[in-house]
Amino acid sequence: MRPVRLAVLISGRGSNLAAILDHIERGALAARVHLVVSNRAEAPGLEIARRAGVPTFVATRAEYGSRQAQQQAMLQQIEGVAPDLVVLAGFDQVLLPFFVQRFPARIINVHPALLPAFGGDMHGVQRALEHGVKVSGCTVHFVTEEVDAGPIILQAAVPVEEDDTVETLAARIREQEHRLLPRAIQLFAEGRLSLEGRRVRILAEATAVG
Ligand code: GRF
Repeated sequence: MRPVRLAVLISGRGSNLAAILDHIERGALAARVHLVVSNRAEAPGLEIARRAGVPTFVATRAEYGSRQAQQQAMLQQIEGVAPDLVVLAGFDQVLLPFFVQRFPARIINVHPALLPAFGGDMHGVQRALEHGVKVSGCTVHFVTEEVDAGPIILQAAVPVEEDDTVETLAARIREQEHRLLPRAIQLFAEGRLSLEGRRVRILAEATAVG
């Protein structure tokens, strides 16, 4: 199978980027990261990309003046590597419609809550904990123009412990993200994600004929 071409967008730590690179390295993911884009120059994830020999591109809002100009610059770089799939891995900016429309059903995001609960911003873990949920988790979904509302590809549940803080719960959720996001990419690579309305069907593995 031809490795699926990825562009990964980050804003911070980059632990999901590291998980993707690790799965590729171990032969568990038929993909290659061709570009890492960050909207923050200080994102520690940029170093993870550099160490793995992946080209990086930084476009800050301050540098470009407007979100439109900033995302145009990102889009141009991303189109330059002709990705099959754009992966938002801890990217904290809402993508504008022109960007989303450029890659229909080819942008995925990982969110640290069981959508459609606690979506819409970067504080899903805190809001779930404050709400008093007993089970939270994470969601990998296709990105549409409406924030955190696109078709759900995979979810994993994470029980909330009595003594959880935002940090401890977020850390356990992240462990699940590190499993789920590479798996969603692999399913995409295998052509096994079938979009039917809002529903993403995961097709059975192709079986050998004859
Ligand atoms: C993850 O929890 C992700 O769900 C959220 O931001 C966090 C990014 O973590 N959108 P990292 O940068 O991949 O370590």
